Amino acid sequence: MFLAGCGKTETPAAAPAAAAAAAPAPAAGPRTIEIVVGENNTMVFSVTAIEAKSGEDLKLALTNKGTLPKEAMGHNWVLLKKGADVATFAGAAMVAKATDYIPDGLKDQVIAHSKVLGPKESDTVAFKAPTEAGEYVYICSFPGHYLAMKGVLTVK
Ligand code: CO
Repeated sequence: MFLAGCGKTETPAAAPAAAAAAAPAPAAGPRTIEIVVGENNTMVFSVTAIEAKSGEDLKLALTNKGTLPKEAMGHNWVLLKKGADVATFAGAAMVAKATDYIPDGLKDQVIAHSKVLGPKESDTVAFKAPTEAGEYVYICSFPGHYLAMKGVLTVK
């Protein structure tokens, strides 16, 4: 009775089901990449090849399963920019204990990195894959480790 006689034609609202179908799917959150280091006190990344989409949201979960003291056998994960000089970076990192083996002068070559982990420690790092396709090297920058502890993130 209230609307009767007002003279306007009501436009029906979009059906709720159609609105729901058009809405984007809820974000799944970043993809987590789990890497174990120090298993049996070896200098190895359990994952040495990662593939990612351009700009993908990622989360690295690094766990040190070793038992040796951090001072003797610490491990980290450092993702370097494309074209970074890995040997130069690792060389400078050797004397950068005060900054967790991330050399101050070469910070601009780092995309993302974890803390240095002692035995049974873990750390997570949220980061975005680079947008530029190509290969990005990651290393453990603890002194003497990078030749053994190295992997590649490939952006497609
Ligand atoms: Co290491």
